Amino acid sequence: MKIQTGEVQPVLILAIETSCDETSVAVVKDGSEVLSNIISSQIETHRAFGGVVPEVASRKHVEVITLVIEEALAVAGVQPEQLTAVAVTQGPGLVGALLVGVVAAKSLALAWGKPLIGTHHIAGHIYANRLVKELRYPNMTLVVSGGHTELVSMQREGEFRIIGRTRDDAVGEAYDKVARALGFPYPGGPHVDRLAREATEAVPLPRVWLEPGSYDFSFSGLKSAVLNVVNQSKMKGLTPDVAGIARGFQESVVEVLVEKAIRAVKANQAQQLLLSGGVAANKGLREALTARCGAEGIELIIPPPVYCTDNAAMIGAAAYGKWRHDGSTPLDMVADPGFSLEKWSVGAY
Ligand code: KG4
Ligand code: ZN
Repeated sequence: MKIQTGEVQPVLILAIETSCDETSVAVVKDGSEVLSNIISSQIETHRAFGGVVPEVASRKHVEVITLVIEEALAVAGVQPEQLTAVAVTQGPGLVGALLVGVVAAKSLALAWGKPLIGTHHIAGHIYANRLVKELRYPNMTLVVSGGHTELVSMQREGEFRIIGRTRDDAVGEAYDKVARALGFPYPGGPHVDRLAREATEAVPLPRVWLEPGSYDFSFSGLKSAVLNVVNQSKMKGLTPDVAGIARGFQESVVEVLVEKAIRAVKANQAQQLLLSGGVAANKGLREALTARCGAEGIELIIPPPVYCTDNAAMIGAAAYGKWRHDGSTPLDMVADPGFSLEKWSVGAY
């Protein structure tokens, strides 16, 4: 697309993310430059319930979405007519929560006469890394969040292949459940992370590798092992060694995640290892991955925490590649809680 001066016009995408408990809107230039990234978090509301309550999440999104959109445009200093397209998380996520973003995005696309780009949430987590550094292909991403634990291989821009995923709990979910058993509020990951680093010794806990060669994960057995240790201490009238348990849990999780991610990088000749999702904030995981990648000569990208947890800037980054390769999404698209990443790959439809 050219303007009269011969300069290439920037692609300005307004992106909307409402798949879980963050209402976020961003304006992203050319898929990599964040002009604004407004995030309204509902964590305080959900904390009282010990986790995200879907119906409450939808209502909170409805309350703030218009304000967040206005703020994102104001902070970016962009007028709607300057936008190239409107992107929105189409799935996966909580259906009622997704619906709020999808309806808002469709309405704006229609009112402003802009194309719509339905975007995959996990592609967003992966492309959060593009906000930090140019990506090289093939690459491998370890996505670790409250809802997802996946190893995703990309041969080319926007071409995703999930080579491993959790068979039960997501890693963040396991952190939250273990934290609750140890007496800490939602979200529990940061508490377990802190305790693990305070502990002098780790309570021994199992590693779950699954069958040889598998890139899948399983965390529910480890979570049950933690609950057993806590209950046994209580039955003996002892106070559980909370810090030691946290350290044992974290060491088990980190060892398996790091080992499988490195194996996946090598097996796929990946040029880079990318990390994303809320659990990427985990200090133990960051340190172990950094050390191991350093030793193996693997380039590692870890986005800053604001781009690791749910945010709309990452949706704008993922939407950019999709838009360039496949163009816009029809306005009759629907929010899809089970949206497939592989089917969303460029050229797949
Ligand atoms: O990506 P995210 O914000 O939301 C989802 O899309 O799920 O991830 C939230 C998850 C929660 O389970 C939270 O406990 C976990 O990330 N988390 C952590 C840490 N910080 C956040 N888990 C382990 N260590 C941390 N430091
Ligand atoms: Zn997420």
